Amino acid sequence: MLAASSAVVTGALLLTACGSDADADGRAELSVRAAYIPQPVSATMAAGFLTVVNKGGAADELTSVTSTAAGSVTLHETVGSSMEEVTALDVPAHGQLVFKSGGNHLMFEKLKSKPVQGGTVTVELHFASSGPLEVEIPVKSATYDPTTGH
Ligand code: CU
Repeated sequence: MLAASSAVVTGALLLTACGSDADADGRAELSVRAAYIPQPVSATMAAGFLTVVNKGGAADELTSVTSTAAGSVTLHETVGSSMEEVTALDVPAHGQLVFKSGGNHLMFEKLKSKPVQGGTVTVELHFASSGPLEVEIPVKSATYDPTTGH
């Protein structure tokens, strides 16, 4: 009896120390960095990349992205050599959700005008728990590489 209850207490302490999704550790604190859209070849379709950083102790989920510049914005995951539309992507506690070339990306379709290098496209990110975030995404050159900045 004694042994059993002390095991439970130990488990609870470990969880707290991890600061995982426990409510005690508060909520998601989200911000966006490294957003860019490579200037697309097409006038109506473009891919977008960004990183959602979560400094909070609770996980959240990106559930949709909207933009007045596009008829539709969808979330895509790259699986092997093909891509799949997904309805939500996790933003882990004390972690980040990364969209990058060859991986997750935003897909803009039915663009009202072609994004041109030097311009911006404004989007709103919607989350399961946190309020929406508005992001002005700069349009970079078609071959822009965020790891070198060129
Ligand atoms: Cu895609």
